Amino acid sequence: MVNKKIQRTYCGQITSQSIGEEVKLFGWVHVRRDLGGLVFIELRDHTGRIQLAADPKRNSSVHNIFLSLRNEYVIAATGIVQKRPGDSANSNLATGELEIYPEHVELLNTCQTLPFQLDEAQNVDEAYRLKYRYLDLRRPEMQANFRLRHAVVTTIREQLNKHHFTEIETPILTKATPEGARDFMVPSRLNAGLWYALPQSPQLFKQTLMISGFDRYYQIARCFRDEDLRADRQPEFTQIDVEMSFIDEEDIMAVTESWITAAFKCGGINIPIPLPRYTFKEVMDCFGSDKPDMRFDLKIKDLTTLAAKCQFKVFNEVASFGGFVRSICLPGKANDVSRRVLDEWRDFVKLSGAQGLMWVAYGQDIDGKPQIRSAGLDKYLSPEEMTELKTLSGAKDGDLVLIVAGTYHVVCQSLGRLRLKIAEELKLIDESKNKMFWVLEFPMFEWDADNKRWAAMHHPFTAPHPDDLHLLDTAPDKIRARAYDVVFNGIELGSGSIRIHDQATQAKIFKTIGLDEEAAKEKFGFLLEALSTGAPPHGGIALGIDRMVMLLTGMKSIRDVIAFPKTQSGTCLLTDAPSKVSPEQLAELKVASTVKEKVKEEKKAEVV
Ligand code: AMO
Repeated sequence: MVNKKIQRTYCGQITSQSIGEEVKLFGWVHVRRDLGGLVFIELRDHTGRIQLAADPKRNSSVHNIFLSLRNEYVIAATGIVQKRPGDSANSNLATGELEIYPEHVELLNTCQTLPFQLDEAQNVDEAYRLKYRYLDLRRPEMQANFRLRHAVVTTIREQLNKHHFTEIETPILTKATPEGARDFMVPSRLNAGLWYALPQSPQLFKQTLMISGFDRYYQIARCFRDEDLRADRQPEFTQIDVEMSFIDEEDIMAVTESWITAAFKCGGINIPIPLPRYTFKEVMDCFGSDKPDMRFDLKIKDLTTLAAKCQFKVFNEVASFGGFVRSICLPGKANDVSRRVLDEWRDFVKLSGAQGLMWVAYGQDIDGKPQIRSAGLDKYLSPEEMTELKTLSGAKDGDLVLIVAGTYHVVCQSLGRLRLKIAEELKLIDESKNKMFWVLEFPMFEWDADNKRWAAMHHPFTAPHPDDLHLLDTAPDKIRARAYDVVFNGIELGSGSIRIHDQATQAKIFKTIGLDEEAAKEKFGFLLEALSTGAPPHGGIALGIDRMVMLLTGMKSIRDVIAFPKTQSGTCLLTDAPSKVSPEQLAELKVASTVKEKVKEEKKAEVV
């Protein structure tokens, strides 16, 4: 038996200071090497690894156990730490200069042949890693991700506690909160025919807590959204959710900056504060996105004045109906980009609704003389106008200018996405830079063409800018919201706003988004009522923890920082959820399925 009297030591605690000390270790056999006589293993626990050795001449019973060990067997070992002899040190291991010849070894559990070797997991299909997630999570890289996640959450909690916030839990079985996605629904057995919705966020509860007088609330809140999944989206994710009373935008942004920067420090990233601020219009005009990646330039430039007066009909028409002609300039690429690549970029902008992609290359001929090539634009633009285009687009000799014409939305979206695609393809992103900033003054509403109504751009509890409130009946699209997003390296980390705290304004906003009095009462009657009971001015923010930790760990997907994530089709490959329920369970819930059994049984091929 392993000596019970000695305290457990972790591999990561062993240093050269430990030489001569007796230690008791528990862990997994990471690798085993049998040299005929001597047998070595690397023992791994969650803090690190150390080499254990067995010599048949020194201790035959330990040697016999070592002979039986295989990768991932679980053992306990007691022995004295010693320096490795001669030049046998392993510089790849923190404990590489040390080893232990255990006096006692106990086999605690065996392990069958693994579906994949932990060291090779990077090359294993992700679906397989998710199926055997418990093994995947054993890998030191994954362990490091979750320990950093823990450190980040702990730091944020400490910071918010320091600022006198109270952590309060809100319900999971609740009523729909509109955050722009579909709801996950849960049938109520006790109230047959009625359904709970899982919260898309604790939005209404946190506002209600302000009305209750808690003043400063936070929660590490699980949110549920039934939406199309991507690398930075999961159906079930975690927010740091914050709300404060008697404050304005400045107060919230200052507190938020204090805990975000502390959290980023945990990941080794120093973010200077106060963060820069940009308006929605500024970032859309310059970068074509409300969450631009500012680690590279390629700013969008406006050519509409030139387009309006030139002879090119396509440009004139766009300018005359109030559209825009805009460009991005690729420095030094006039002679570098092939027609095939330009055609590919043209097809790409068409996906965002653009009719095409014009280009002008301010290059050189084979004698090195300046030569302007273009996709036929020079037929319609005079040499002076071609020079004006060069000035407006910010091009220099040797540059390539890409041009899109269309509505504001189409031009922003197509050039914004093209800008990102080109930066990735041409490796223009400076990975050593970090750019975090606020985006302010979002529009309050956007037109929902499918449902032919105004929709809230953030959510309908966001306060409109008081100076714009008079536009509610005449020009809702011109109203600015008191909303703010925090963006890091092209990813939206968080979003928040000052809320509406008077009932009349809230009712008006519901009306603007097409909810008549009855519908508003049915969906949000409790909020309207609460707002009329002395609601304080309040506002808040929520940040996605998964996204934050993904960025801090340098992972490409939030799946790598969520212990048990879902695939793109919303399944958990470990547990096989979602799964069928028995007819008895459905009957109890008074729920009938319209899906034919056969279809339900067909398993979709998994795309992670
Ligand atoms: P919003 O919907 O913008 O705001 O969400 C806030 C932040 O949550 C993260 N996030 C997600 N992370 C992973 N997977 C998802 N599917 C997902 N959806 C959102 C993002 C995002 O910035 N109630 C408001 C906040 C407020 O107004 O206080 C809200 O939820 O990082």
